[in-house]
Amino acid sequence: MAEFQLRLRRFDPESGEAAHWEQHTVDLEEHHSVLEGILQTKARVDGSIGIRCSCRAAICGSCGVRINGEPGLACNTHLDHAREAAIAAGTDGVIVVEPMGNMPVIKDLIVDMDAVHWKKIQRVTPWLINREPVPEREYIVERESMVDVTQTMACIQCGACVSDCLSMEVDPGFIGPAALAKAYRFVGDPRDDQHFERLDDLADDPQGIYDCTHCFKCVQACPKEVNPMGQIMRLRRLAGSDHEITDPNNGRRHEEAFTSLIRGYGLLHEAELLPRSYGGDSWFGKFHPAAGKELLASLPVVIKGLLRGKVNPKTAAFGHKLPKPALDSVRAIFDKVEGKSHSKRAERYELNLYVTGYDEDEHHASEPSTTTPEQGSDK
Ligand code: SF4
Ligand code: SF4
Ligand code: FES
Repeated sequence: MAEFQLRLRRFDPESGEAAHWEQHTVDLEEHHSVLEGILQTKARVDGSIGIRCSCRAAICGSCGVRINGEPGLACNTHLDHAREAAIAAGTDGVIVVEPMGNMPVIKDLIVDMDAVHWKKIQRVTPWLINREPVPEREYIVERESMVDVTQTMACIQCGACVSDCLSMEVDPGFIGPAALAKAYRFVGDPRDDQHFERLDDLADDPQGIYDCTHCFKCVQACPKEVNPMGQIMRLRRLAGSDHEITDPNNGRRHEEAFTSLIRGYGLLHEAELLPRSYGGDSWFGKFHPAAGKELLASLPVVIKGLLRGKVNPKTAAFGHKLPKPALDSVRAIFDKVEGKSHSKRAERYELNLYVTGYDEDEHHASEPSTTTPEQGSDK
């Protein structure tokens, strides 16, 4: 047995009092969970502590909290690990537990999942819409197709990703990581009949797939390795590249401008990115009225950057200049993944979030160097 210090955030909106912290000592084994610590405190010291839990085995997803500032499952976090993290965070080993973010607090460590998380899940039509004709017995589905959606099916709806989503913090209307991962679960399922409609809807929504800023927070937060950001990128790839959906949010045009600038310059030419995203992917894009309007709106920021020395006028005007061998290497990556004979290549793989291609043979497709860790089982 060992002693652990827990600092719990207490808040009861109905009391009219402000939130406050309470510190308690618990006696438990090191491998016991933070949830055990909270439940021991509740049983021995104060029965009014609010915490939601059920399975105590990282399955039901109901004990999501923030521990030492990071979202996670209280039942899946060992006390000794939490104490180590607390020491690293400079709290003298006191384990700080507070409710998840981006959701209103009902009481103490319990947040209102209905108001945010479940509402967003409902937004993406979270059920299968049968492909017709419905077979008399069962649909026969390729094994690979189910492997493709298995990662999203591992979601236990804990809300940890929602808690720390930076886009949602700025724009609470953003559909969010958990719901968009759920959307991929059906877009990737061959039995579903509404792939295009779902993608079109999510691309069209200003708070849909193009509202994510790739901050990776949801990837780090997820206890089940669902990789919500990766699923959002896959939705974008399907919407933009496969279904050629051009969205009113300029998401697809922005991606195209981004990749073509990297191909052209080797590094991002920031001054060209905005006009091309709005006015079309060429040097002439800046003369399009839509691009002109955006450029005018961004002038104060540009001038401020110039005055403060944050923007180099020469680089802003002409872009970064890479040595030719380096530029050739960048272009060789594009040539390899885009290739000239897509149709002859059987298997597609992803080198990063935006560039897709088809591998030449199975041997290469299985090389770990062709994917980034966040793509997990994208093949
Ligand atoms: S990567 Fe996107 S969805 Fe995930 S937390 Fe960041 S902004 Fe939110
Ligand atoms: S994606 Fe991961 S973090 Fe988000 S709700 Fe599902 S299991 Fe929890
Ligand atoms: S109590 Fe079920 S996931 Fe923690």
